[in-house]
Amino acid sequence: MARVTALRSIELGVTDLRLSAAFYRECWGLRPVAQGPGFCFLRATGPEHHVLVLRERPAPALIRVDFAAASPLAVRKLHGELESSGVKVRAEPGPLEDPGGGYGFAFLDPAGREFRILSEGAVHADAADAPDRPRKLSHVVLNSTDADADAAFFLDTLDFRLSDQTAMMEFLRCNADHHSIAFARAGSVSLNHAAFEMPDWDAVMRGAGRMKEAGHALEWGVGRHGPGNNVFAYFIDPDGLVIEYAAELQRIDEALHRPGNPQAWARPLNRLDQWGVAGPPSEKILNAMNGAGQA
Ligand SMILES: [Fe+2]
Repeated sequence: MARVTALRSIELGVTDLRLSAAFYRECWGLRPVAQGPGFCFLRATGPEHHVLVLRERPAPALIRVDFAAASPLAVRKLHGELESSGVKVRAEPGPLEDPGGGYGFAFLDPAGREFRILSEGAVHADAADAPDRPRKLSHVVLNSTDADADAAFFLDTLDFRLSDQTAMMEFLRCNADHHSIAFARAGSVSLNHAAFEMPDWDAVMRGAGRMKEAGHALEWGVGRHGPGNNVFAYFIDPDGLVIEYAAELQRIDEALHRPGNPQAWARPLNRLDQWGVAGPPSEKILNAMNGAGQA
């Protein structure tokens, strides 16, 4: 079985492109690499050509998530495997016309979300960490009306591995990162949040401070999660989409790791984080995480 090797980028629909592009540039710490009528591609400090694509839409929405495979051959193998499993292919393997290029294909998961698996494409040579800026897209958490089925699809058809299960979520990995994708048990198919990896917890604090200074309240955190062990700080973007600064996400040793189950991870809502500093998530962010307002 060919494998997905990494999470690459997320594409979001935003209602005011100018406003959102300025927010992600000036407050969140990304940099534009390509822009045009109705779209803006933004990079983090790492080598990935872009980690976030914003497209102007009538309502905020998750448009798609891109993953990486090792080579065009691996892309074609994955395409063949998905097609023979009856997965709906949206675009056949081929060169991409997006900024950054690459070679890949698009498919729909059982809930109808669009994903792409890509190889190659442009990378940035200047990829040094900055003390207060995201390095890469860490993980995406997607709301599901059937999280078990969505997780099973990624485990069985795409060869992801289960890292942990809680009453709320299924955490899945495609490399040593504890989770690149997670499915939350929810009442809609929508975006729960997108997390951006900071170099360390100090960078999480510096980024959180910059956001606070710009008038964006820290809606949950700073804290350290149970599953994944990452330091977190959650904010809400201009369209009500939830974004996270994350650092120190657990690296999984395949030989040793045993997934935790919902009983093992059970915690009260006001004591979800390991330090006990974060408190419960705000009402506002719980609504936003549930997909309020999304198309
Ligand atoms: Fe997260």
